Amino acid sequence: MKLKHQNLESFTDRSKNAMYKSWHIPNEIITAYNDLILKTFVHDINAAISFTEFPGETSNIPRYFDLESIDVTLKFCQYEYGDVNCVVWDAAIVLAKYLENLFVQKKETFESKTVIELGSGLGCVGLTAACFGGIVTLTDLSENVQQLKQNIDENKHFLKGKAQSITLKWGTTFESEPFDFLLMADCIYYPEVIEALVKTMIELTTPNTVILISQELRETEKQKNTWKMFIDLLTEYFTLSYIPEEEQHPIYRSSDIVLINAKKKK
Ligand SMILES: C[S@@+](CC[C@H](N)C(=O)[O-])C[C@H]1O[C@@H](n2cnc3c(N)ncnc32)[C@H](O)[C@@H]1O
Repeated sequence: MKLKHQNLESFTDRSKNAMYKSWHIPNEIITAYNDLILKTFVHDINAAISFTEFPGETSNIPRYFDLESIDVTLKFCQYEYGDVNCVVWDAAIVLAKYLENLFVQKKETFESKTVIELGSGLGCVGLTAACFGGIVTLTDLSENVQQLKQNIDENKHFLKGKAQSITLKWGTTFESEPFDFLLMADCIYYPEVIEALVKTMIELTTPNTVILISQELRETEKQKNTWKMFIDLLTEYFTLSYIPEEEQHPIYRSSDIVLINAKKKK
């Protein structure tokens, strides 16, 4: 991984570091994380978590996420050990904060709108949409739905709209009316599922659906090829526009996380 900022001071002051602070991650963890960046150029908070234990908490580590515009702090149960769904990823934070921007600009954006999130993980993006009034279906593989449900229950008193969790494996049939919004964060990381994922996106949307895709672009050849494969297939069915950083949240954005607004072709 490479550092993208001109100097380390601006790096530690900006973007991701500020994101972590707002998540109430203890200072020692942030310091340890910064040390890790300086030493190895590792670019992910999950790496820091893996070598630093929270006192007294080894398996279930709560993570907090502020939505300042409505004075809500969401709480996510996450696990120290597990697969890719055991933490909230940076791309989810960027997308959730972009949703907050949309809400601040136009309060009724999500009011009574149907929203589906693919590969929800811990549910940060979907629950944010539900806080702003969306009728949200959060989805993931069957083995992850219980944890998703737990996070919905944990935050249900904050939801202005509704949230439910269901199993949806990409490429399998899912009977539903098309949604007003389709959201997904950091779902592109292995090539085997790209076709199935795009098939699901086609099935769940119409040309009126607002599709927002957030993705951290990683440096490995496999990740680059997988992303290209996804974009090439997606553009056969959808028109893509990249949301410039200046239209995203002023803090919760990053040059290595892309935010795409896709529209299904007629
Ligand atoms: C990197 S995680 C991102 C989680 C969450 N969106 C976030 O950004 O914090 C990818 C998610 O996609 C889910 N996933 C992977 N393959 C899937 C498939 N074939 N069908 C449905 N979900 C899948 C994983 O279980 C995981 O929750």
